[in-house]
Amino acid sequence: MTFINRMECPIVPRSVAEVDLMDVEIQECPYPAYKALREDAPVYRDKLTGFYVLTRYDDLRAVLKDPATFSNLRPRGPDHIPPERMQLIAKLFREKGWLPSPTLSGRDDPDHKQMRALFDHTFRASKIKLMDPYVRDLSYQLIEDFIGDGRCDWVRQFAVPMPLIIIGKQMGAPEKDIWRIKAWTDAWVKRLGLMQTDEEAIWSAEMEIEQQHYFQPIFEQLRREPNDTLLSELVNREIPEWGRKLNDNELHAEMTADTFVGGSETTTNALSAGIMLLAQNPDCFALLKSDPEQYLRTFIEEVLRLEGPVQGLQRFTTRDVTLHDVTIPQGSVVNVRYAAANRDPAHFEDPDQLNLTRKNAASHLGFGSGIHACLGAPLARRELWWGFTAFLDRIEDFRLTPGHNQLRHVPNFYLRCLKELHIEFTPKKRSSS
Ligand code: HEM
Repeated sequence: MTFINRMECPIVPRSVAEVDLMDVEIQECPYPAYKALREDAPVYRDKLTGFYVLTRYDDLRAVLKDPATFSNLRPRGPDHIPPERMQLIAKLFREKGWLPSPTLSGRDDPDHKQMRALFDHTFRASKIKLMDPYVRDLSYQLIEDFIGDGRCDWVRQFAVPMPLIIIGKQMGAPEKDIWRIKAWTDAWVKRLGLMQTDEEAIWSAEMEIEQQHYFQPIFEQLRREPNDTLLSELVNREIPEWGRKLNDNELHAEMTADTFVGGSETTTNALSAGIMLLAQNPDCFALLKSDPEQYLRTFIEEVLRLEGPVQGLQRFTTRDVTLHDVTIPQGSVVNVRYAAANRDPAHFEDPDQLNLTRKNAASHLGFGSGIHACLGAPLARRELWWGFTAFLDRIEDFRLTPGHNQLRHVPNFYLRCLKELHIEFTPKKRSSS
């Protein structure tokens, strides 16, 4: 059974000539633009950034499986960002904080493989399993905090705090500080999103430096007294091939990009998108709550496929590559648009529809693929599982609060972040778990 994803799009490009991925109105609902690109320009050179944008499922799979040609080492930035800005920001970090080193996703093998082994060990299945009861209890607790009100902003009261408290606890930050951390991650996401002026980018860098000074004493404390958190393992475990542990610059880079943004912002956006999709597809909500055991797993994959929190990332060509008659020169930035590939009709039947019985739902690229595939996918899936389970368990019926929702997203070239989602609901009478 399938249900239509009723997304209203402010701009529907009539041709590739009207596609501009930096246009905030197109970012609001990029799917018609992705369709135009997939059909008429599968290798599309973005005018402003100079990036080569890829949108077809099979092309992305091939690129992600070929890291020798499509490297993660960053030789250059987008065309529209002046190198002077990058130099100024680097100077700021050197003088006031720690210049971030390349993160895990900014490295190639063998360097990447060696560092990834440390992360794989840290995020091992047994560790994630130990966290599971906490993820469950926190999900129910957060809903309990507003259930009596009959309404909430799902983004602010659930989707943001849930993954942030979980990863914060593992990174040595107490729950009381989560809104401080959220302000830092928001600033970082804005800088990543390529939409800032010079002044705004400098503000973001200053926010990151503030965050570095918050976490530096936590690293030092964990060096003196290791504990059972994920951060303690990252701080204290040696990478055998390097003959050393991660240094401060490496740790600080990981804290922002991979743990707080990678590890909470993304899950927040999937939690938000999931409830938005259910509000827009009441028949689907009815089916899901009729039998969560049967439909929830596929629902989670469909959320990640239809409303991917990471719309796209980048790779860099190590040689000239010709694809669909377009030659991408060596040293170019290739923007792999996961969210466009995830609606490719050549791979997914009726791709714009939310389908709780879709057989190949889990083959989406929302977590990437290949050697850089998302390290946190098992944790994210457990968070989504418990977040939606608690919702279905505690809420009988709900709707978007009339007059309160604009359903706008934060302008961003790479990520998709719903700003707010006001819902009103009828609670269920029975108690949790
Ligand atoms: C719904 C939630 C999430 C989504 C949609 C998501 C998505 C992604 C994507 C698309 C990539 C890039 C793959 C590539 O380059 O091809 C990635 C990488 C990564 N993610 Fe996630 N992620 C999520 C949750 C998490 C969590 C919870 C963590 C950790 C706590 C995490 C940590 C990472 C790390 C460290 C990488 C880099 C892996 C590497 O380069 O080897 N992510 N993620």
